Amino acid sequence: MNIKDKILERLINYKGERVSGEQLASELSVSRTAIWKHIKVLKDEGYMIDSSTNLGYSLNETPDTLTPGEIKAGLKTKVIGKEIKYFKEIESTNIIAREIADSVDEGTLVIAESQTAGRGRLGRKWISPEGGIWFSIILKPKTQPLYAPQITLLAGVSVTRTIRSFGLPAKIKWPNDILINGKKVCGILTELRAEADIIDYLIVGIGIDANVDTESFPDEIRDSSTSLMKEMGVKINRVEFVRKLLEEFEALYLEFQKEGFPPILEEWRNMSATIGEWVKISTQARTIYGEAIGVDSEGALILETSEGHLEKIVAGNCEHLRRT
Ligand code: BTN
Repeated sequence: MNIKDKILERLINYKGERVSGEQLASELSVSRTAIWKHIKVLKDEGYMIDSSTNLGYSLNETPDTLTPGEIKAGLKTKVIGKEIKYFKEIESTNIIAREIADSVDEGTLVIAESQTAGRGRLGRKWISPEGGIWFSIILKPKTQPLYAPQITLLAGVSVTRTIRSFGLPAKIKWPNDILINGKKVCGILTELRAEADIIDYLIVGIGIDANVDTESFPDEIRDSSTSLMKEMGVKINRVEFVRKLLEEFEALYLEFQKEGFPPILEEWRNMSATIGEWVKISTQARTIYGEAIGVDSEGALILETSEGHLEKIVAGNCEHLRRT
């Protein structure tokens, strides 16, 4: 953590109370002038810091930003989010994550307030205005590429756990859309680079419509989208949400490394909005209708078609249909 983030962490912990420049300087082994300079930068970033020569500094208001200092203050993870690359605006966090993946540690996060070219699954665009939560986690699991879809499902479980902890009834639509009351609130895009039998890195891109006005979305997705703000009736604290999500993600990732996929798959199944539904699956090659009867150990969807055949679907677009 750099000095500025450390100062911020202390001010947040002392929220409202004054901390002297001298105390900060001695705790962080830097000069009082250095402290003053960092405080100035924090003020420019939107932190309302009261400073008085004799009494020291106090943090009165934090901006609603996802800056590293904000997220890291009180974050209980060991690996995920230890390093955070923050951007006010960026093309796509997945693109930057891919560019830096080779030179950073596992768990590094790339996060942005908005994306100008957010990427969705199946080559779609992902609308990413300010107020949302758009980030990518860089992972380096020592596993075969074959297991990458399991980590995507794990990410879906981590988001669902987090949304539920905010009191909302989130469910997962196969493979990894998170829904609240049948409407999409989050999408996950995993991209990887691998050799034949080992993953070099895996980028898990997570996009959450947090404090976003979905009424301004294009016609094609407006009615099928929702936001956390809309469902809660108030804006959510995005920093708190991201911290909780990183903690859930890390807990599941550690469980995955220790015990494998079965316990996560079990939780995924219990959170599924798709199992038991009639669905339409579109792949590049064909369209299949049937009842979703389960998900196998690789995360593939098992369909029973109207002719009574079982079909295993590894990838594709899934639409829930109303029973007639
Ligand atoms: C989907 O189509 O459902 C997946 C959407 C994934 C969007 C996220 S936002 C953060 C990360 N960066 C991107 O460009 N895409 C992912």
